[in-house]
Amino acid sequence: MQICRSVEDIRRTVAGWRGRDEVVGLVPTMGALHAGHLHLMQAARGLCDRVVATIFVNPTQFGDPRDLALYPRDEAGDARLLKGAGVDALFAPEAAAIYPPGDETVVETTHLAQVFHGAVRPGHFRGVATVVTKLLNIARPDHAFFGEKDYQQLAVIRRLARDLFLPVTIHGIPTVRDADGLALSSRNRRLDPADRAAAPVLNRALEAAAAAAARPGATVEDITRTLRDRIATEPRARLRACDAVWAGDFTPASGPLTQRLGLMVSAEFGPADAPVLLIDQREIDPQGG
Ligand code: PAF
Repeated sequence: MQICRSVEDIRRTVAGWRGRDEVVGLVPTMGALHAGHLHLMQAARGLCDRVVATIFVNPTQFGDPRDLALYPRDEAGDARLLKGAGVDALFAPEAAAIYPPGDETVVETTHLAQVFHGAVRPGHFRGVATVVTKLLNIARPDHAFFGEKDYQQLAVIRRLARDLFLPVTIHGIPTVRDADGLALSSRNRRLDPADRAAAPVLNRALEAAAAAAARPGATVEDITRTLRDRIATEPRARLRACDAVWAGDFTPASGPLTQRLGLMVSAEFGPADAPVLLIDQREIDPQGG
């Protein structure tokens, strides 16, 4: 597996593949890889001749500098996992390669970045949209792969790719969970044992919400109330956001369950001065399932 640090390096590598008409897939990550990331690599491997993974802990998507400083980093371990997963090239730039001096251009989905989880994380989705657009422009893949766990992030990326006419197909890949239902996340390794034991409450609450949705005449309000009430039973979880959207167009959902519903939840665990923010999501089909 080739390791590229500069924009020129990765562009040269990808250009060589393109010259041989090979299909290129990109899997952007912030490192601290887990089985969920490897699932993304596998999806890319299945569809593409060549796979590029990126590791870049993007400073512009962190609101709190302590959260950025505490974000887990293990590039050597990650590189071993990527090699084992059959990744062809790792692009792991320094911040200055992505944000060179004088950098001032941002990408923002002006509405979608502000609503739902964006309302409690100001600037977060602008940072994500900006870095993902840069990475797509640098590597110019045919396909790019992102986890469905970051449900609003995936909607933001789909929208920017559509609005900016980027010649790439965006793929959402289902969430991978631990045996107790906790969605895999690089942040899980920052949970102490008591918070780790408490964190599956997010998935259990989403399951309770799905059960509420299956009751005849259930409304979106009943479903989100169940979700909130269930999270409130866990004193270690501090709810940050709980949103329901129509999955088709990502607009606020209310009233009877007429279309596929997306539920998104985020909660903090751990000390108030260095919290660990976890998110989770579930889609609910009004026909059941
Ligand atoms: O989901 C992530 O790991 C990050 O938000 C992403 C998409 C790599 C952008 O920094």
